[in-house]
Amino acid sequence: MNKERKLIIAGNWKMNKTVVEALALVGALKTELANINQVDIVVCPPFTALCEVARVLRDSNIRLGAQNMSEHAGGAYTGEIAAEMLKDLAVRNVIVGHSERRQYYGESDEIVAKKAQAAHVASLAPIVCVGETLAEREAGRMEKVLETQVRGSLAGLSKPQMVETIIAYEPVWAIGTGKTATTAQAQEAHQFIRGLLIHLFDEATARGVRIQYGGSVKPSNARELMSQPDVDGALVGGASLEARSFADIIRGSMSVG
Ligand code: PGA
Repeated sequence: MNKERKLIIAGNWKMNKTVVEALALVGALKTELANINQVDIVVCPPFTALCEVARVLRDSNIRLGAQNMSEHAGGAYTGEIAAEMLKDLAVRNVIVGHSERRQYYGESDEIVAKKAQAAHVASLAPIVCVGETLAEREAGRMEKVLETQVRGSLAGLSKPQMVETIIAYEPVWAIGTGKTATTAQAQEAHQFIRGLLIHLFDEATARGVRIQYGGSVKPSNARELMSQPDVDGALVGGASLEARSFADIIRGSMSVG
């Protein structure tokens, strides 16, 4: 089966891995994933490992991503990291608005939109995360929540910027819980998001945007999820912390890519 868009599979390591551990993981991934170019592969280590990991990944088929960034370009923001600093380390993608950032650090759609815009100013491609909680889904509010997040988090992006932006649909109830959305649930949400993009931008732009699924993606479910027409990749947490399982997810997806 041929996908309309090239798959992009990213590993979100979250707050895991020392520099030594990070180097061991990317070293193993480079071997496991050598010569795979049918799928875009991204790893997002913690900030502290980016510099060293960048050195190892130079000239490889694995791209470097970051897990967060500041909405500001620079200045007196203690503890923050600017997009230009990431660019300087050969980072190409940056996750913004992950549900853990929204939930634990109070990130609003407005902040997420500012981060996405600031990423583009530095020529980084943001991975903008959206997704409903279990309570919202059970209350029948999934579409409303997704609409608010998509509108708010992508506000101010031009059409060319939107095409370079990746959206990650991550139902909060599936993150780190072992519960995965069914393929039908994932496809339904992705199709809904693409419909919103048609409305907010235009058909051609919406058709170009890659929408990843995230939430307990594993080697055993990746292929089926990725075979859905509007699922264009995955944002993988837990299963990206080990070379074999991340590589198996990518290899499993290649047959649909
Ligand atoms: P998980 O995390 O794969 O461990 O569920 C996904 C994510 O939070 O991006």
